[in-house]
Amino acid sequence: MKQFNNSITVSAPGKLMLFGEHAVVYGRPCIVIAVDQRIRAKVELLDTPVFQLDAPDVKVTNYKKPMADLGNGEIPKGAKFVEMAIKKFFNRHPERSRTIRHRAHGQGVKVTTASEFSSKFGFGSSSAATVCTIYALTELTGAKLDKKDIFDLSYKTVLNVQKKGSGFDVAAAIYGGTLYFVTGGKKIISLPVNHLPIIIGYSGIKFDTVRLINQVAEKAKKYPKLIDNIYSSIGKLVEQARQAILKSDYVYLGKLMNINEGYLAALGVEGKKLADMIYAARKAGAYGAKLSGAGMGDCMVAVTPKHKTQAVKNGITSAGGEVIDVKTQAEGIRIEPD
Ligand code: PMV
Repeated sequence: MKQFNNSITVSAPGKLMLFGEHAVVYGRPCIVIAVDQRIRAKVELLDTPVFQLDAPDVKVTNYKKPMADLGNGEIPKGAKFVEMAIKKFFNRHPERSRTIRHRAHGQGVKVTTASEFSSKFGFGSSSAATVCTIYALTELTGAKLDKKDIFDLSYKTVLNVQKKGSGFDVAAAIYGGTLYFVTGGKKIISLPVNHLPIIIGYSGIKFDTVRLINQVAEKAKKYPKLIDNIYSSIGKLVEQARQAILKSDYVYLGKLMNINEGYLAALGVEGKKLADMIYAARKAGAYGAKLSGAGMGDCMVAVTPKHKTQAVKNGITSAGGEVIDVKTQAEGIRIEPD
């Protein structure tokens, strides 16, 4: 019989949306990349039926509750995703919790997370923590879940907590690399990419993703045909971006970024600070630039010829942004040495 450990450390990468945000909530595709700043989670099975969480990056320390109360009562914002991930895992796999009880380890779970990136960047720390928790429990209990099963369970957890979202961030955390992704994981296709010449600028502004999804939904209620046409146009653009990425045609990719940004502005999520950074990047020689994610804040991304890299970085900085150095093509979820 397989011997199970009672503790494991896993990590998952952060993500950055390249094309297709918002439209991907409504059945269209997007392109997302995994970035090499990772979130780590140590997950331990305990002898006592308690859930414990330490997640200092999201201001949760020494949070404890009985396993039987998972999901009940007031849950601190930073604890919600991990707590619901554990609940969903054992609801789905009650036999695993019995297995744990039968083994010497007991039936509680302790999770300790640490992030290499600040949760403020919008790199998807909540989704990455959810994925880490479910993957670790899969490994610790011997549940037979493949990547798609882990995606489905993690996505359900994320939807349970925040109600809205396409799941693109969950997919990036699991699969890594560059993904062509359709809403809810209907398609998750890894694109064979070695390198993308992009520069990322952080606006310093935090804006709530769900609030922006709702804001766009309100607009769609008022102008249903117009907004649906925009989603469809973004969807077509994503197909072209996929081809441009495969051909390493960065000039065209830049043009597509600019067009995508125009659609996002029409949806009302561009925001002045991001726009300033985007225009500064273009002026400094980027092939193209756009916001990344829900908009109004977080990050922008520019695809840039090599010899203009420094100029574009300077442009972003002079518009008040902060350049964030990350490597793309990060590996998906993986086990780390303890
Ligand atoms: O704000 P972010 O980086 O989590 O990106 C949100 C992207 C949306 O398309 C607006 C929402 C989603 O879940 O796809």
